[in-house]
Amino acid sequence: MNAPVELPPEATRRLPIRRLRIDLSKGFPKLWNGGEAFRTHYLNALSMSFPIGEQFFIDSVKKGVLMLPPGQQDAWADELRGFTGQEATHRFLHGQFNAELDRQGLKNYWQGWAAWRIKNGENMHPVNHVAVTAAYEHFTAVMATGVLTHPNWLEGATPDLALLWRWHAVEESEHKTVAFDLYRAMGGSERRRILWFVYLSLLFFVESALQTWLNLWHSGRWWRPSTWWQGLRFMFGTRGVWWASLVPLLHYLRPSFHPAQLENAAEIAQWLEAQRSAYAIVGE
Ligand SMILES: [Fe+2]
Ligand SMILES: [Fe+2]
Repeated sequence: MNAPVELPPEATRRLPIRRLRIDLSKGFPKLWNGGEAFRTHYLNALSMSFPIGEQFFIDSVKKGVLMLPPGQQDAWADELRGFTGQEATHRFLHGQFNAELDRQGLKNYWQGWAAWRIKNGENMHPVNHVAVTAAYEHFTAVMATGVLTHPNWLEGATPDLALLWRWHAVEESEHKTVAFDLYRAMGGSERRRILWFVYLSLLFFVESALQTWLNLWHSGRWWRPSTWWQGLRFMFGTRGVWWASLVPLLHYLRPSFHPAQLENAAEIAQWLEAQRSAYAIVGE
């Protein structure tokens, strides 16, 4: 009988840190998402907001844990390590992705808008930073569920980029409870949590729409009727972003809400199994 296989400790952690076996330095096509301008530039816009946003999430969660009584901080060590490790690898790869967008002639305005807000909010109490992180983490978890359950969102995408978006979606789903649970552990109120979410939802819709439009402008695609027809289908079609996201987003407004209620464990397990050769689990 074979001896049981010993798994390295990093492979058994709740939030493993994975290195994705893709190389973005060789570039990718301008219309990488199935040749469709709107689908490509909407996801490009989201990517432009990721590196600065993810650094803010890491900083906020670290500060938040330090606000807990010393006796509670050790219990957060694993969650904190997994969360920061996953977000740091996302930030790195989306930084490479965004550098290619830069070479393709696109301009990242969203990053500047976010930097301005982060600077202005730096003196707020850390519970607000964790509330903002929890709200954005709900957005990413809802989008992640959409990416994993709606293959049409990435239909025809360049294979390495489809991997990048689905890997990110899997890890966002894995760590979706961290900031929310930390906010509760810090004693944050329901009212503050919900008010931040309402404000950030409005901001997200305006900024994602503006950055998408600017991407279409800089790529010379905004005036083509096919762009908007494909955009309408992608956003408001029966398997589009709007219908997949609206109800799960609104759930955040319920006092009994918890991110674990957003169920996609089967999709995560399926992707991890099917793409086992596409990533390596690494240590710290
Ligand atoms: Fe992320
Ligand atoms: Fe995240």
